[in-house]
This record gives sequence, structure tokens and C-alpha cells, in this order.
Amino acid sequence: MSALLPVEQRIQQLRTAVSTHADQYHTHDAPQITDRAYDRLFRELQDLEAEHPHLVTLDSPTQRVGGAVLEGFEPAPHERPMLSIKDAMDDIEASAFVATAAAGLGVATEMLELTGELKYDGLALDLRYIGGVLIRAATRGDGFTGENVTSQARTIRNLPLRLPVPIDLEVRGEVVMRKSDFSLVNEQLLSRGEKPLANTRNGAAGSMRQLDPKITASRRLSFYAYGVSELNGETPFNATTQWDLIQGLLNLGFAIAPETAVVRGIAGVQSFFERVGEGRAALPFDIDGVVFKVNALHGQQELGWTNRTPRFAIAYKYPAEEAVSTVLDIVVQIGRTGAATPVAKIDPVHVGGVMVSSASLHNADQVNAKGVKIGSTVIVRRAGDVVPEVVRVEPSAADETLRCFVMPLHCPSCNSRLERQPGMVGSYCPGGLKCPAQKLAKLCHFASKLGMNIDGLGDKSITALIEAQLISMPSDLFALQAPDLVSLPGFGRVSAAKLTKSIAASMHPDLARFIYSLGIEGVGEATSKALAKQFGTWSRFRVATYDELIQTPDVGPDTTANIQRFFADDSLGHEADRLAAITSPQDSLKTSGSTLLGKVFVLTGTFPTLSREQAKALVEDAGGKVSGSVSSKTSFVVAGEAAGSKLEAAQNLGIPVWDETMLLAALGS
Ligand code: IVH
Repeated sequence: MSALLPVEQRIQQLRTAVSTHADQYHTHDAPQITDRAYDRLFRELQDLEAEHPHLVTLDSPTQRVGGAVLEGFEPAPHERPMLSIKDAMDDIEASAFVATAAAGLGVATEMLELTGELKYDGLALDLRYIGGVLIRAATRGDGFTGENVTSQARTIRNLPLRLPVPIDLEVRGEVVMRKSDFSLVNEQLLSRGEKPLANTRNGAAGSMRQLDPKITASRRLSFYAYGVSELNGETPFNATTQWDLIQGLLNLGFAIAPETAVVRGIAGVQSFFERVGEGRAALPFDIDGVVFKVNALHGQQELGWTNRTPRFAIAYKYPAEEAVSTVLDIVVQIGRTGAATPVAKIDPVHVGGVMVSSASLHNADQVNAKGVKIGSTVIVRRAGDVVPEVVRVEPSAADETLRCFVMPLHCPSCNSRLERQPGMVGSYCPGGLKCPAQKLAKLCHFASKLGMNIDGLGDKSITALIEAQLISMPSDLFALQAPDLVSLPGFGRVSAAKLTKSIAASMHPDLARFIYSLGIEGVGEATSKALAKQFGTWSRFRVATYDELIQTPDVGPDTTANIQRFFADDSLGHEADRLAAITSPQDSLKTSGSTLLGKVFVLTGTFPTLSREQAKALVEDAGGKVSGSVSSKTSFVVAGEAAGSKLEAAQNLGIPVWDETMLLAALGS
């Protein structure tokens, strides 16, 4: 029969069939034909399109397999900034939000209607449909400009490439990696000897940021929508409530979690939070909370926005996820500062998006206080990206018979006698860089993502380099030559060249990164940033006195003492100086803010609260520029009452137009 049809018609038929079956499979979990039959239709479509390339369209389901490799991500300015929601960490904060919102609207608290939505834990995505066709997908970026990830987004199976109606729409939602897909993808990565994904959130974010969309296509991502607006500024679907918007999205073919509901008052918020919390572990994807939004759109508008967040919405977060497992063994690990930490090796369990097979017990006192023994049933917890920990023991009758843990007297790595430092909990290995475990941990920390971010330098390759006696401290890395590496285990010509290239690329780190990479005890990401901001240059930080250090926001006496002790240690201080001389860390800007750095604004019309001069000063304080005329270089036009030709020019050039509220929101950080 198909032979009789003109090729265009057949292609059209195949597209409809493939899209419908894919939708049944991916969005409704209800396949209507076998995988084989589906593959046959898909193959036929692919073949026809290959024969007639002029008939290929952007919304064809064949485009989902990923197109050409990109050289880099294009910047993608947002029409409306992508901002975040305030968190509520407990029932008091959540109730306060409901009460304040109700009071603001003059409604009795128990009558306030809100939508309860899942807080999908992935990567936020902005989708632009023109005439019903997906033309652009952008990440959030800094909230004002994201990255253009359209080719990557097209590979997401349950994300509509074409809407059933030819409308202009902006849809926002979250790209997630389902738990089952996370396991599958990791199995594939491991079987190819590649590094597994750390958790589902990193899985989603990392897969979207692949320059080769074919890799994204292989990662089995999903998209869940949570917001929509019409591109010409009107409310879509004649909606009057958030619920209407969500139903509209559902009708257009977007996936929405079926748990989504309308609730009323504090009681409704609490029971939705608890109900979803109970089912959380069984959800197909990870969530880190639930989001409540005032249901009436006029209510949302009336409440408006504070600096950076809406007054009509709250993200009610769940505490870190916990799981039950059994302690198989307790071993002692030596960290980069020499701290000896007892670690429970446990029966692997899935918790908070990752498989966990070891959990920290912090120190010997904690092991005893918690009563953890080899064979104990324990509750483990994982919060964010931190190391999982044993929270408590689930008591059992067998506990009496289990073997207790005894803290060893010597370092398991270098056999130095472990020491207790006055005023500090736990014991330390005094071996310093002579202790292999400390050396390895220090080097790993130095090269890590938050540190010097040396791509391709993980614990395996560092171990190989140490064993070959090519490196023993971080500064040695910068003397490595590709020919030294080629014959090492795990290296070849390509990976050797790649590693020396990424070492070279890590030069001129920003100061905060450099400080972090030194691995001073207690100086994590936030503290490093605070120190970089406080001192501006490496040389100023290097010679800072106790009194100067302690003036840094959020740096207390313990951290200050750690920094001073670090530099007082000759070998550590010299190594830091050597590293600074080799890598020349960049000076840190001490401007009051840089949220709008590099952005060019044109202000036009009369604003409701700010004078033109005030608005200009605010933009400039935040690092932005204000220009008098609209051109292709303009990033944003902020328009007030009676804006004239500049507003028109912005619209003609497709430059995003803000109102005063959006400007203030942008400045809020
Ligand atoms: S609404 C102004 N709804 O959580 C409000 N956000 O801080 C815009 N998220 O990164 C967001 N699930 O990507 C909204 N049901 C949901 C959400 C959700 C996840 C993410 C979002 C953003 C963060 C909000």
C-alpha cells in the first residue's frame, strides 16, 4: 500500500505513527505495538528522509537521535529571567508562607488555594515554541542568559517537538533522569570502562551539557513541565489558575507528575507534603521537595515578587533521604589533612539518587556512642553531594553477639602512630605528604572539579602517576610531559595528550578555586570564595594576619587557626607558593556586585517606583552598562509607562523587554 503513496504523504504518515507510539510508550507507559514494529516504522522513516533530505523537518521524530556535534553552546538570552523559589525547611516556615500569602490576599488562611507540585530534581529548561514547533531550548544559566541546548533537548523522548496546535508558547520545566534509567545508563558506562554518573541530578545536567547530542540521546532523559506563558504576553489557554495552566500543558502532551493537586490552607499543605514524602522512595525520579504555588493567577500577580523570588510560591524541602543497610566491615580511611575516619562498608543501597556502599562514622567516639558494630543494621543518610553517613543503629537482638570496632593505633597507610591533637576530636596520622593515603587524597582534592578542575585526573590516574614516581605533590603535575605518560597503565597516546592539555588549561585559576585546591582544613567552597573576595590577590591572602583573616565574613577562629597553621608548616607553605608561582591565580574583583556584569541595558519610559537615575545607578552597581539607544548589542530593554520608540526598536530586534519588577528581581541576589 505504501508504494502507492507519494513519498511526502508516507513520511507524514510515518511521523504521526512514530510520534504517537513513542508518546504511548514514553509518556503514558502504555506501548501499543512491539519494539520491533516500532523500530521498523522508525527505520523506514529514517531511510526515506535520508533519500529525500529536503523533506527533513525540525520536528521529525528522527531528529531525536541527535544531530551534529556542536563546537560550543551559544548563549540563549531569556525573555523573562529564570529565577528561583524560596525554601521552607520545616512546617513552621511552610505555615508562615501560607499565612503570609493568605493575609496578603485578604483570604482566610484555611481558604487559600494552592497547587501542590513535585520539586523535580534535575536541570531547569526553557522551551520556546513558535507556531507549535520547538525552536529553542535553553538552560537557566545565570538566570538571564542560558545556553542553547536545542539539539540536546530534541533527543528527550517525552518532550514534544511539535504541539497539536500551532501556538507561540514558552514552557518551563525540569529535565530529569529517572532512577531506572540512571541504573541502566550507569551499567552501560561501567561496561565500557567509563566513569559512572554520581547521581540522577548530575546525570540529567551532565547529559544535557554534552556537545555531542548523540551522547545526550543515549542518556534516556525525561522532561516534566511546571510552567508556561504565551510569548506575546497573554495568559495561555484562557487560564485563571495554575491548575488550568498545568492541565493545558498536559493536554498539549507534556508530562506532569500525576501527584500534582490543588490543596487548601496549612492543613492541605502539610498533608500533601507528608503524602508525597511517604511515596517519595517509590517515585520513578528523585525529588528534593514539593512546590506550592498560589492557585489563582490574579493572586500570584497581586502578591508579586521580592528581590529574586516570587511571594506566591514556596519550595518545601524534604530532609536528606535515608535508607536501611547492614554493616559489612568498618575500616579506617586517612583523609587529605591526615584525619583518620572510621568508615562503614555497607551492603550497597540506593539512597538520594546514588548507590551507596560506604558511609562515614566520623570518629571512634561516634562509633561507640552510636553503638555501630560489624553486622549492625544501620540507617544511612545522604544530603546533597556530601559523603553519606551512618545516622543510627536499628537495634536488634543479635547486637550483643556482634563484633565491636577497635580504632587501630597505627595509620593503615604509612603505619605512623596515630595522634590525638589537643582540642580536636578524632585521631590524625602525622605522616603528612610521606603518608601515601594523604598524598593521594591531597592530589585528588587539588585536581577535583571544585579545585583546579583538571579533566581526566581522577584517583585512578593519580595513583598510576604516583606509583610511576612521576608525581608526589601537586606542583609536580605541571612538569608532566605527554611522552612520560603514554606507557602508564590506563593511558594511551590520546589520553596522555588530553591530560597534559587539561593540566595546561587549569592555569590562571580564579583565586577562590586556587585557595580551595590547597585543601586547608575547614576551607571549603564557600570559605574559599569569601577569602578570595576579602583579600583580592594571592599575595595579600598569603601574608594575612590572624586579625585580618578573622574579619572575613563567615570565617571563625577555628578556620583562621587552620589557615595560619597551614602556612606555618614549611613544606605546605612552600608548596603553596610554588603552585601560585606556576599557575598565577587571577586576582579577584572586589566590586559590590557583578550580577549584571557585561550586560547592556536601555531604560525607557517612566517606572512605577524608581527614577531613571536610580535605575541607572542600580544597574551600574551590579556591573551592568546603561546605554541610550537600542542596538544589536543591547541585552535588555527595561520599559516603563509611556515607553516609545526604544520599546518598538527592542521588539523589532527581538531583544527581551523587562519591567521594573523584573529588573529589581534581577538585582536581588
Ligand atoms: S516553579 C519562579 N515548579 O526548582 C518559580 N520549579 O527554585 C519558577 N523546580 O531550579 C520555578 N520542580 O527548575 C517550579 N514544580 C516546580 C519545580 C521547580 C523543580 C526547580 C526549578 C528551579 C528550582 C526553583
